Amino acid sequence: MPSSYGDIDPEVFRTHGKQIVDWIADYLSHPERYPVLSRVGPGEVRAKLPPAPPSQPETLDAILADFQQIILPGITHWNHPAFFGYFSITGSMPGILGELLTAGLNVNAMLWRTSPAATELEEIVLGWLRQMVGLPEAFEGVITDTASVSSLLAVTAAREALGLKIREEGLAGRPEVPRLRMYCSEQAHSSIEKAGIILGLGRAGVRQIPVDAEFRMQADGLADAIAEDRRAGWRPFCVVATVGTTSTTSIDPVPAIADICARENLWLHVDGAYGGNLAVVPEFRYVLASCERADSIVINPHKWLFTPIDFSAFYVRQPEVLKRAFSLLPEYLRTAEGDAGAVKNYMDYGVQLGRRFRALKFWMVLRAYGAEGIAARLREHVRLAQWFAARVDASRNFERMAPTPMSTVCFRANPAGSSQPGGDLDQLNEALINAVNATGRAFLSHTKLNDRFTLRLAIGNLRTTEQHVAQTWELLQAELSRLIGQ
Ligand SMILES: Cc1ncc(COP(=O)(O)O)c(C=O)c1O
Repeated sequence: MPSSYGDIDPEVFRTHGKQIVDWIADYLSHPERYPVLSRVGPGEVRAKLPPAPPSQPETLDAILADFQQIILPGITHWNHPAFFGYFSITGSMPGILGELLTAGLNVNAMLWRTSPAATELEEIVLGWLRQMVGLPEAFEGVITDTASVSSLLAVTAAREALGLKIREEGLAGRPEVPRLRMYCSEQAHSSIEKAGIILGLGRAGVRQIPVDAEFRMQADGLADAIAEDRRAGWRPFCVVATVGTTSTTSIDPVPAIADICARENLWLHVDGAYGGNLAVVPEFRYVLASCERADSIVINPHKWLFTPIDFSAFYVRQPEVLKRAFSLLPEYLRTAEGDAGAVKNYMDYGVQLGRRFRALKFWMVLRAYGAEGIAARLREHVRLAQWFAARVDASRNFERMAPTPMSTVCFRANPAGSSQPGGDLDQLNEALINAVNATGRAFLSHTKLNDRFTLRLAIGNLRTTEQHVAQTWELLQAELSRLIGQ
């Protein structure tokens, strides 16, 4: 076989592999060298790249030069210690090495036999995380890519548990099937509504319950909505409670919601994509209070447990229901050990057949830091958020817009002390966040709370220190002074 038909020369791979690891080590040592938010304009990266694929081989030297010159300027640096937008995340070094090994092995973790270690390590690390957050053994896990998919699996299992033969017969054209409704708060993540869309419930099938002054689902409102819907002929079947909502990290009252679900015989899914992670810190374990009563829960280590995106841990109390919802066994995927029920074939517990070996990176992160090391890092993030919140509270020019139960601070500039929603203050805060982000020295994102434009400072990166938070606080004050001419 001509050598040109095989892979590139292993020595070339070795040389460039070492260069790339060196580059990543330098990059992670000094991510501050780059502006946090990419400065390219729309279409700028694309315009520098040929629209047609190369017909002839190119050298890795040439490809990596283009990475530096074309791709890198178009990167927003989530690794920057002053990246405070959305939920700040970390691709930790042990996690990155795990990703490298996963790519090197390139196994497909669809069946036990397609890599027994991938399946069994998945079982092990999910068991470790379950113990770290204090969930009971009854919960079995499956790794998915994202919380959006984990919650989709949860709602699919909830629908399957109804016994309406939807898996076999579908939903349309069946007058005997009532309209199904699920519930979440108006602060729930959009992925919950998406699950309703995908599963044929329609957006009307997802009822959003109002929240209290601290952005938590009103349990009374939930009970009333369920009663009203039953009277109107809906079939309530599932409630999604959020531990750590996306905008403010508020925690829905899971104990009261679990009571309602038990009384009404509804599936309780907990979206702890962000906030569930905090339960690894012993004194914050209360964030998952009563979650042991849930039917399913999602926690995303790629959000706050230093695991490179993507990695979502989905737990379910009745794995057989999840399996009933998803398992299809064509002949070409049958195995003796699967037929004998001696192993778990993870393809049976979700949408995908092909599955990345994600467990490896998480295993490496957990071992490299240890449960206590991880807890210490999260504790520090919460402390930094409290530090920042205290500065906001003490300032005459800023105000806090929500409680800070975790590591995300919601606030805005309000130099005149106005209590009016919207208007000029919205414009001022939008101008402020744009000015801060344009400096490249910090990056924040925003939300709207009670119709008011609100800035969010989310702390979650391993390399963030008090100095970065303090500098960002100074930057906010300086940019505000400039804007209001003081
Ligand atoms: C509470 C909550 N749930 C779900 C999601 C969706 O997560 P993913 O990007 O893993 O789908 C997010 C994302 O921030 C979130 O904050």
